[in-house]
Amino acid sequence: MVQKKALITGVAGQDGAYLARFLLDKGYEVHGLVRWDSYVAKRDGLRRLNLLEVLGPYFSIHYGDVSDAHNIASVIKSTKPDEIYNLAALSHVQVSFDVPASSFDINAHGILNILEAVRCLDMEERVRIYQASSSEMFGKVPAPQNEMSAMQPCSPYGVSKLAGYHLARLYRESYGLWVCNGILFNHESPLRGEDFVTHKVTRYVAELEHGYQKPLSLGNLEAIRDWGDARDYVRGMWMMMQAEEPDDFVLASGQALSVRAFVDAAFSSLGYQIEWRGSGLDELGVDAETGNVLVKIDEAFYRPLELDHLLGDASKAKDILAWKPEIGFEQMLRDMIEHDRKIISLEGNGDG
Ligand code: GDD
Repeated sequence: MVQKKALITGVAGQDGAYLARFLLDKGYEVHGLVRWDSYVAKRDGLRRLNLLEVLGPYFSIHYGDVSDAHNIASVIKSTKPDEIYNLAALSHVQVSFDVPASSFDINAHGILNILEAVRCLDMEERVRIYQASSSEMFGKVPAPQNEMSAMQPCSPYGVSKLAGYHLARLYRESYGLWVCNGILFNHESPLRGEDFVTHKVTRYVAELEHGYQKPLSLGNLEAIRDWGDARDYVRGMWMMMQAEEPDDFVLASGQALSVRAFVDAAFSSLGYQIEWRGSGLDELGVDAETGNVLVKIDEAFYRPLELDHLLGDASKAKDILAWKPEIGFEQMLRDMIEHDRKIISLEGNGDG
């Protein structure tokens, strides 16, 4: 059987690592684009790939950057992929307010460079492209959101992702490129970066077992998100790429919780009950049993503009691709906390 080749940009991230593992298990030859800073800090930069045992004979790393048009064109030319998954991104919404131009370079220019490379190399006929679009593009539009909803992003990240989304659609419609947009709602896992709220919370809860030190500082607790599991979502990416026609699909769990409800659930999974006292910036989350302050509010984690309510409607993916999530919220939370407990005990043994 002819082995398919995939190129994944952003392969060292949460989704990249899970997708690489998924494709290797399907018999693909996988090429991963990794940025120079992951090369410099190799052990840390490639830790997810190590953990999932991705590094091996059917996986090659290419150092580069999607914002460098020459680089991405030469990687595409030399690897000749059947499928390109563009997952490289400046993905932290709050950070995008600090570095909006970098967000555009990576999130909008990055996909443009890939589309142009495929077109200029005359590879339209053989390559399929997946663009990682985001539910952050919906911004202030009322929930639930699906492929037909308006888009009013409220962060530089969201605006840059919306530009990328439209470029992908435009190249599909004007040049006939096989490009699909996966509009993914929040998706978490044990491999989630610790600067995203879910992992920040689960790590803190797992650390509590080793003794109370100081409160966890958080920002807006009222924002509502549709949290799914990244492992389900990378399967969805692949399913989009196997469809007869290129199209755009929402992937979401269809259930939404506030950040506060997530915090409550994470603490209570290890037996801590939080009592919320006070309001606004003075609000505290107190351990009902010991009186220790477990959560405090820090203005630094508030964004200049907040996206209040995301709830995805993934009916189209269910109908056309037969995709549905298999990992529920409880299991995802359990896996994250178990993973953190394991990492913390390894760190305690000096193996971390
Ligand atoms: N990161 C973070 N840190 N967020 C906090 C904190 C905190 O201390 N406290 C409250 N929040 C709130 C944020 O204001 C936001 O409303 C919510 O928690 C979720 O924040 P993140 O986990 O940073 O994710 P996100 O929703 O902004 O973005 C994620 O999902 C998008 C899809 O909708 C990212 O993965 C994006 O790359 C992705 O496109």
